Parts: sequence; C-alpha cells; structure tokens
Amino acid sequence: MKQPTFPIDSASMDLLIDAIAEPGYGVFPHLLSSETQQDLIELMEAKESEDEFVRAGVGSGQETQIRSEIRSDSIFWLDPDSVGSIAETWIAGMNTLSELFRSQLFLPVCSYEGHLARYPAEGFYKAHLDRHAKTLAREVSIIVYLNKDWEDTDGGELRIYTDSEKGVSGPFIDVLPEAGKVVIFRSADFWHEVLPSSRPRLSLTGWLRGREEIT
Ligand code: OGA
Ligand code: MN
Repeated sequence: MKQPTFPIDSASMDLLIDAIAEPGYGVFPHLLSSETQQDLIELMEAKESEDEFVRAGVGSGQETQIRSEIRSDSIFWLDPDSVGSIAETWIAGMNTLSELFRSQLFLPVCSYEGHLARYPAEGFYKAHLDRHAKTLAREVSIIVYLNKDWEDTDGGELRIYTDSEKGVSGPFIDVLPEAGKVVIFRSADFWHEVLPSSRPRLSLTGWLRGREEIT
C-alpha cells in the first residue's frame, strides 16, 4: 500500500496557528497538497460506495438527536485504527497541529475527532456554534472541502459570522466549499451555517478538543 505523505506542511500549520491567534478564524483556498486532497476524495468515494454514512445528530453524548429541520448531512467518523490509510495520516497531522496549538497559543487541546460529511442536494445546517453547551471540549474547528469543480451557482456556502460578539446579527463571509480549501475557527466563538446547495456537498470536518468538562 502506498504511504500517504504528511497532510499539512509546517508553513501551512503556521498559517493556521496565526489565524486562530488573531482574528480567530481563517480561510485558506489551497492549503492541501493535491495528493492529500486526492487521497481524501478517494476515501470519501470509498465510504460512500460502502454505504458507511449515518444521519448526523444534534447535541452531544446520549442527548444526540436527529433533527432534520436543523441539519441534513450524513457522516462517517474517521477511525484512528485504520492503519496505513489517509485517515491515519490525517489524524496524525491533526495531533501534530494540536501540539503546536498547545505550545504556541497555550490552547488546552489534546485530541482530534473528525468525520466525513455528505450533504444531499438542498441540504443545509442552520446557524450554530460547534462547542456543545454541556461539554466544553471543542476548541478549534477545522474543515476541509472535497468538491471538485464547484461553481458559484452550486451554492452550499459556509457562512461564518465574523464578529464573535454580535453573532448572527453581525457581519459574515460566505465561503464556497471548493476542493482543497481549509477553514479554521475557534469553536466557541464563531456562529456559522451551511447554505443549501444544488448538488451533494462533501467535506471532512473535525475538532481539536480539550479535556471533557461536563457542566
Ligand atoms: C459542522 C459544520 C460546516 C461545513 O459540521 O459543524 O458546521 O461547511 N460544517 O461543512
Ligand atoms: Mn459547525
């Protein structure tokens, strides 16, 4: 089996760290190498054809519920035991990124969780924060888009509300989910939503997490 190369180089990791330091979010159109991008797209295709996706829920732990009026994606959680695959390489890269966030920004992050996500045509995810109310574990959200040849008219933008004080009543930016693009933001601070798209919309979404704190 071919060994995937390290997913994000150190210069790119520095860009991600600088964005989280200030202003707390960043959008990077071509952060992934074309090889990593292709490996992730192939993983997505494999999991789609194996029918491994399940409807995503809202909330955390035992209180997770399917709420079609809030989100319509289906997900596949990356498995850290998938030795030799791009999933293993990606998780290793995210763990390295966690260490850098810890040592350079003193963020209390110690692990990564991530899932492939597939929104059907007309799918959406209403405005929300990624940090769950009951567990404060999610510190940093990092999303990679896997849609080749995505056009403006396909929609499916990620709308990020860029003023963390004003939230959904403040200014926003719209980000097209084009292949190879990486978006990062502080999970507790930035409201965001996924707008409907005219065709299925594919991504790898994950979080750098701190220790579980149940309130
Ligand atoms: C999420 C999410 C955004 C996107 O899964 O929590 O907000 O652009 N995803 O896929
Ligand atoms: Mn989210």
